[in-house]
Formats: sequence, structure tokens, C-alpha cells
Amino acid sequence: MTVDEITLRPITEDEFPAYQTLIATTFGHDLHPEDLELERLVFEIDRSLAVFDGDLLVATAGSFTRDLSVPGAVLPAAHVTAVSVAQTHRRRGLLTRMMRRQLQDIHQAGRESIAVLWASEDAIYGRFGYGLASVRVLIEASNREVTVPPVSAPGRIRQVKATEEVATLAALFDEVRPHRPGFSSRPDAWWRYRLADPEHGRHGATALRTAIHDNGAGQPDGYALWRTRYQEGSLGPRYQVEVKEVVATNLTAYQRLWHFLMNLDLTRKFSCWALATDEPLFYLVNAPSQLGRRIGDNLFLRIIDLPTALTGRRYATPVDVVLEVTDELLPRNTGRWHLTGDATGASCQPTDRPADLTLGIQELGAAYLGGTSLWALGQAGRVVERTPGALSGAAAAFGWHRAPLSIEVF
Ligand SMILES: CC(C)(COP(=O)(O)OP(=O)(O)OC[C@H]1O[C@@H](n2cnc3c(N)ncnc32)[C@H](O)[C@@H]1OP(=O)(O)O)[C@@H](O)C(=O)NCCC(=O)NCCS
Repeated sequence: MTVDEITLRPITEDEFPAYQTLIATTFGHDLHPEDLELERLVFEIDRSLAVFDGDLLVATAGSFTRDLSVPGAVLPAAHVTAVSVAQTHRRRGLLTRMMRRQLQDIHQAGRESIAVLWASEDAIYGRFGYGLASVRVLIEASNREVTVPPVSAPGRIRQVKATEEVATLAALFDEVRPHRPGFSSRPDAWWRYRLADPEHGRHGATALRTAIHDNGAGQPDGYALWRTRYQEGSLGPRYQVEVKEVVATNLTAYQRLWHFLMNLDLTRKFSCWALATDEPLFYLVNAPSQLGRRIGDNLFLRIIDLPTALTGRRYATPVDVVLEVTDELLPRNTGRWHLTGDATGASCQPTDRPADLTLGIQELGAAYLGGTSLWALGQAGRVVERTPGALSGAAAAFGWHRAPLSIEVF
């Protein structure tokens, strides 16, 4: 395959089934007919990219137009998705070509100063300037060993059909979303996508269940989404509760929802696939050590337009620092930048002043959501301190009081 034989372009409507089929095959599963309809809900054809070898579609990529919560603000962020290269065409540079083109496209469009993605493997995206910006905590525990105290404050839980309560769920989510870096906006189509529950996606668990908590005066203030799964080998009916998300605007709702999920009849275990490292649950339960906590990767973040991104977020402590940044793929970000900012705003200008810190665009992306410490990156030799004290000051400023977390794979 020579460079002349391949083309790289957005797909046409007709090519949508082939595009989705390649993604499914490459990710190791089959494409079900209903998946096509589901993917169509959120698909943005003008943001798609595909590589053709002659008339054969051999690689895909795409991105979604959504907002992302960042420390102290909500910003447009390209949500990169659908990255796949046919088994027959791997390791010949097709991903590299797509990533380079996509970064240029996002930069040129000028709407988004950052891009985020979930990576299937650690090794793939660093070379394109993405840094691991958040992690998630997975839990799996026995509800006989781990409990949350019951709540005496007024309030009640009702189990509902999620698709009939989208407006309520969306309003609650939107109340919480700006305050948790890493949360993505969910326009209506995304709610339908999120709540779609095709049988083949359950992998043996029940349909998605939904409960809404209200404050006792009829005002909804939290919800939970979960499934239950039969525990193989059980003597008698024994289930595991698989929590998909718990969103609550106050402690009473949060605690009562978790108490409810951990006390469902005939269940022995509960699990959750994505909690923040600062999840209140860890401080509510009687035995945090028994939660079976594991750490998984979460969002990778790429700075697309450095000054816009750095002025777009807020800083935990006042910062006044010159960053010397290198970015081979988007050279406009390369250079020395004078960043000043605090909890109310920020400014970022090119400067000739000497650098206080030297780092790559990948490290800046990793630190951007406040979840990866610039200090830790410095200790690992990935950020170089030129002015004594600059690293600890910048690390404190780039940190945030809420840990970042994404609660949906896109
Ligand atoms: C991951 C994937 C997209 C890579 O595509 P590709 O066209 O083979 O990648 P490239 O040829 O452009 O590779 C570029 C570099 O990344 C490396 N690389 C690519 N995928 C890698 C992986 N999974 N693990 C480790 N290194 C990887 C290559 O070795 C190459 O390194 P080099 O430049 O030092 O030789 C492809 O293997 C794939 O579709 N995998 C299954 C689906 C998937 O995981 N998609 C990613 C979703 S987040």
C-alpha cells in the first residue's frame, strides 16, 4: 500500500453502515442492526474521517460536539471517538495520518480548545499529545460487609421508567455537571443514546433500572441507574447490583440512593464502574477497605489551542508562571507562555521572559483537569523546573477541589 493508493476524507451517508461495521469488527464484536439506528442518534457526519484503500474502507475516526466541565468552567471540547484501523491495515501509519488530520481540523475550525477521548490502550495516544487527565475508581463489594447508614431526613425514592423521565434526569444532571470536571454535556440525543438499552448490550444482566429521589416535598434531587446480574453458581436467587451512575444534588439524596442500591432484596454484592477518587461514598461506608477499589484510566485530554484552553479554566490558587511548551503536531502551541490566573479568571500571552517550567503538550493536557499533579509529573522528570519554587506553585494552582471524572464512554 503506497501513500498514493489511500485517501482520507469524511464519509458519505451511504458509507455509514460500512463505517460502523468496521468499528464493531475492530473492537471485537458484531454490529447488530439496532446499533446502526442507535449510533445515528449522535453521529456527526461532517466530523467523521475514514481511510480508503482504493474503494475499501479501512480506517475510521470521528468526534462529537459536546461541552466538557473543566475546573471552574464549561468549555466546548471535541469528544474523539470511533478510532479503528482494519486488522489487515494495522501498523502502517493510518492512525497517525487520521490523528494528524483530525487535530488540524479541530484547530482550524477554531470552536474547541481541547479534545478528549477514552483510550483502549495506554500506549496509543501519548504520541499525539494526549495526556491521561483523569482516573476512575471501580468498586466491587459485598453488601453484607459494606454498608451506608440509613438516612432519617425526609425524602422518598420511586422507581421509574427512565425514558419517561428524561427531562427530570437531564435537569438533575445539568445541576451537578458544571461542578465536576470531566462531565460531558448531554443534549437530548445523548440522553436517548445513554438510556438505550439493547438486549445484546446487557451481557446477561437485567434491563437498566432507574430510581429518582425527591426531597419529601416532591422536588427531585437525585437519581440512580443500575442493573442486576445473577451470580453464577448461587444456591437460590442471588444477584449483584451493577451501578451505572448515581447523580445527586445533596447528601441526603446521595446517601439514600446508595443505601437503597446496597440493600436491594436478594442481592449480595454491588459494583460500580466509574467513581471519582474523591467520591463521598468512600467516607460514608463503614468499611472503605472492603470496597475492592481499583483504579482505571478515564479521560485523555489534548490541548488544541493553548492560550484559549489555559484562559478557559480557573486556578485553585493565584498563578504567575512562564511555561515553555513543545508541541510538534500543533506548532502554534510551541513557545513560552506567560500564564496568570486565579479562581476568577486567567490570562495567557506569548512572552520572551525566561521559562519557569518546561513541559510538553502531553503533560499540560494531563494536568489540565486538575486530576494529574504537575508536581508528580515533575518528580517523574516529565516537567522541568527552571525557577526554584515554580513547580509547587503551579501544581497547587492547576489542582482543583473536585477530582475529574467522566461517567460515560463515548
Ligand atoms: C490502535 C489502532 C487504531 C492503531 O492503528 P494503526 O494504524 O495500526 O497505528 P499506526 O500504524 O499509525 O501506529 C502509530 C504508532 O503507534 C503504535 N501503536 C499503535 N497502536 C498501538 C497499540 N495498540 N499499542 C501499542 N502501540 C501502538 C505503533 O506501533 C506505531 O508506533 P511507531 O511509530 O513507534 O512504529 C488499531 O490497532 C486498532 O484499530 N485497534 C483496535 C481498536 C482500538 O483499540 N482503537 C482505539 C480506540 S481508543
